[in-house]
Amino acid sequence: MTRKFATLAALAAAVGFFAIPAVAQSPASLAFQNTVKGPPPGWTGPVFKLSAAYPAAAPSQCPECTWLQVPVSFAPKFPPPTDNQWDAGNWSEYLKRILDYVKQGQDPQFGNTPGFQVNVGGMTRWFNVPWMAYDPTVGREFVHGTTNERTAHLRDLIHPPTDFTRGSKPVVGANTIAGEVASCLEQNKAGFETWSVGYYNQWGGVAFGKAIPKSGVPQTADYMGTQMPAGLPFPPGTVVVKFLTTNATPDCVPYLKGSPEWQIDRHVLNAQKTAYTCERSVQISRLVQVDVAVTDSRSPTGWVYGTYAYSADQPGTTFWDHLLPLGIQYGSDPWTFPAVPKAESVPVQQSVLNPGVNIYQHFGCNGRLAGPVDNAQSSCLSCHGSAYAAPGGAVSTMGTNVPNSFGFAGMCTQYSLANTSYFNNTIAPQKFSGGNFPNALPLDTSLQLEVAFQQYGQFNTYKKPAACALGK
Ligand code: HEC
Repeated sequence: MTRKFATLAALAAAVGFFAIPAVAQSPASLAFQNTVKGPPPGWTGPVFKLSAAYPAAAPSQCPECTWLQVPVSFAPKFPPPTDNQWDAGNWSEYLKRILDYVKQGQDPQFGNTPGFQVNVGGMTRWFNVPWMAYDPTVGREFVHGTTNERTAHLRDLIHPPTDFTRGSKPVVGANTIAGEVASCLEQNKAGFETWSVGYYNQWGGVAFGKAIPKSGVPQTADYMGTQMPAGLPFPPGTVVVKFLTTNATPDCVPYLKGSPEWQIDRHVLNAQKTAYTCERSVQISRLVQVDVAVTDSRSPTGWVYGTYAYSADQPGTTFWDHLLPLGIQYGSDPWTFPAVPKAESVPVQQSVLNPGVNIYQHFGCNGRLAGPVDNAQSSCLSCHGSAYAAPGGAVSTMGTNVPNSFGFAGMCTQYSLANTSYFNNTIAPQKFSGGNFPNALPLDTSLQLEVAFQQYGQFNTYKKPAACALGK
């Protein structure tokens, strides 16, 4: 009797008979749901709405993409130029023009209200990736639509102003705040949470409309003999921007002073403040980093990535004035350690760093570009170059059927096949180097699309999101 009842209840739950109406479980509704959960009754703050009315087509040219006319050189030089190419190579101007486009129509202070505006000049300019509100642990929260990433530690956010070597040295205590930093470290054993939200312009939106149409089921198509998501590679004119927040306070990280304070529905610390838990509540986070990425047909990877850090010390009155450009990257420097042995290594040339950064110097593996909250053993384009998805609606498992994006033994520290593959340059529709993942679908550097394919794979395979494993 009991057994039969349990079976019936399980069956009813499985077909969505009780709490959840069957319609809520269709890929169409799950892919395009705005957020993991809606605001509580009486909420008066901003509410995130997924921008997913993807345009069917976009003009063949992007008239506003004026950086594409900036004369920059992508040609490898041996030996690499010894003078810094940031200004001499016009990269400073290139990145500035991208930010000028991104900030058009946005609130000068980029405040919690209104947050980011998807409508610019009377039309929808910016679009989101679907399937990012399925996972209750890290999926989109209801205030700004941010999702959770790797937890940043204070050492990622602060470096002594004179530390230009970076590497794996523990870097604690920018001189001006030595006292506070020690207490901050003591008081923030769990580290700081990074919650971030990304937008693609209409050229990216056109691609998403094909890759993940209204059915919510990812589609693939043949591109130059290789299966990849329909609509990809991303067309010329594509611009991506991503805003990253941290819950580190200006007391701990002085350059965050004055940074916009956003409400984020994020994880609550346990009572001992040593770990984040599965429970979420609306808490304050601050804008710390702004990432951009653009397609550029001149680039060996098809892309240029760039990043900005919020800096209280930058002159100006708006949020945008306070964004300090850190540098750009258009390749992973396959001629530089650990892609080659140290004896053969030449200095990086496919990352160009702003030499004027004096609040701290952050870069990734061996002089390649990474941002303040990024993994310093990696770099923008090496991590993004690992964006692949398992075919056929399967779950992707890093290191098994898709490459490892976040880390592997010896990452950045030794010459190895794994590092040679990870720090190689590929361009869509190439497979990941090394031959280990022959069936993985190339995603043209989009790690948000990787999240989308992964969440669809989770739904398709298990019919429910992964369980929360935080605080354990
Ligand atoms: C170790 C891995 C890693 C590194 C290094 C990294 N990212 Fe990302 N990035 C991700 C992941 C994962 C996502 C997707 C999840 C998300 O957006 O929340 C992402 C998303 C993005 C997006 C949104 C577009 C998309 O679909 O991927 C942009 C733009 C971006 N990153 C730019 C950068 C820039 C610029 C840098 C270097 C300053 C950088 N990233 C370094 C892992 C990385």
